[in-house]
Amino acid sequence: MNKEELIQQEYIEKARAYVAEYKRLIGHEPSSCVVTFGCQMNARDSEKLCGILEQAGFILSNDENADLVVYNTCTVRDNANQRVYGRLGALHSMKKKNPNKKIALCGCMMQEESVVTFIREKYGFVDLIFGTHNIFKFAELLCDMFSSDEMVVDIWKDTDEIVEELPTKRKFPYKSGINIMFGCNNFCTYCIVPYVRGRERSREPEDIVREIKKLSCDGVKEVMLLGQNVNSYGKNLDKEVTFAQLLQMVEQIDGIERIRFMTSHPKDLSDDLINVMKNSTKICRHLHLPLQSGSDRILKAMNRHYTKEKYIDLALKIRREIPDIAITTDIIVGFPTEEDVDVDDTIDVIKKVGFDNAFTFIYSKRTGTPAASMEQVDEATVKRNFDRVLKVVQETARNAVSKYEGMIMDALCEEVNEHDPGLLNGRLSNNTIVHFAGEKDLIGQIVPVRLTECHGFYYTGELCRN
Ligand code: SAH
Ligand code: SF4
Ligand code: F3S
Repeated sequence: MNKEELIQQEYIEKARAYVAEYKRLIGHEPSSCVVTFGCQMNARDSEKLCGILEQAGFILSNDENADLVVYNTCTVRDNANQRVYGRLGALHSMKKKNPNKKIALCGCMMQEESVVTFIREKYGFVDLIFGTHNIFKFAELLCDMFSSDEMVVDIWKDTDEIVEELPTKRKFPYKSGINIMFGCNNFCTYCIVPYVRGRERSREPEDIVREIKKLSCDGVKEVMLLGQNVNSYGKNLDKEVTFAQLLQMVEQIDGIERIRFMTSHPKDLSDDLINVMKNSTKICRHLHLPLQSGSDRILKAMNRHYTKEKYIDLALKIRREIPDIAITTDIIVGFPTEEDVDVDDTIDVIKKVGFDNAFTFIYSKRTGTPAASMEQVDEATVKRNFDRVLKVVQETARNAVSKYEGMIMDALCEEVNEHDPGLLNGRLSNNTIVHFAGEKDLIGQIVPVRLTECHGFYYTGELCRN
């Protein structure tokens, strides 16, 4: 443990005393509910928040009627912000009925000054606000919150510290995300992430391997290595290590059966990585490779550092080398100055690559990013082009996914199906979901499943018993 980690352990002890006092005040075991918005990074951060809450003496719950509610927010698109404001209204009504209720806000949205000012003005009932860089201080911040009658606000502009060895409470016993790097240096002109997550910094490979070994001893079978651009992993370390080399180290760890990673920027994807994936028995047959746009002019304005042709060449090379791989992507429609011909180019790439799935987003203007001051596209044009893109995505995805119909593939049993308790949801190596009849005790196991019918993005199937 480093110095900060030791200090925070002490604060967890102090927080326990505050939580015990809080229990006497409210007359029952204090409960807490952490709500996660946004990406896998936030989901992992929420596991850290839950770990600290549990050690401090809170019961964890999924119900926002809990005594303490924490919103771990996202600000990548404006609708993420609007959702938080909407739900804060509902929390306010709950707090009026239960004045001892505590409300904390953290995550990417809180790194924006204008947001914090707005919350101070309009949502004065919030008890604690902190950001992405000081999340490791959560125990200390809980102490501050319990000892203050006013809103506690602690936001750091940036950090070069990495504080990771703190309690975590994993959502799934059999799989886990692991941060391999933080922040982003790419500054795609539409994107707010570099402003709210700070500069890119990688963790030492030894620390990552040690954490995964521990997870493996704890029963974890699948790990997902997390970073905004994993392909540039290791560039700022004293002893440079590439992402391909890191994957090889993780591959050696006993007990880990599946390795995934998010996200790969096309500009930095190396031949070494393709080779390592190709020769690996553990790295999943899935690559998320955000395209954003297929138009050279728009890609340049987005600061993406690749062309339509380069992207297609790369995707087809990967498909040639690893034929059973699923390639998924992110697409933005309505970037400033985008015209129909640009969207035609995007559609052309979708058809040529034949994505297994694509998340299509309407461009959202983010204050402070370069694209916010470029000429915006009118809503009707964006809507029309969005529908055009979506239609092609659905067609190509169905084609790509359905080619495995009738085959038997390994699925990791993840959970009981939310609509039919007789069914389990399994995940294939290529990230496709399959629903099949099975007992709850299979959860966490990897089992062979026959893929009987493709329903667009997912399958129904049958468990193959020996
Ligand atoms: N680091 C990842 C992406 C993180 S954000 C990468 O570079 O691929 C996830 C996705 O949100 C992006 O791929 C992009 O498609 C989308 N996105 C980011 N900013 C956006 C904005 N301002 N409007 C709409 N979509 C956006
Ligand atoms: Fe945003 Fe681009 Fe960084 Fe991804 S690579 S987080 S899209 S700036
Ligand atoms: Fe959102 Fe922050 Fe992730 S802005 S997408 S939660 S890095």
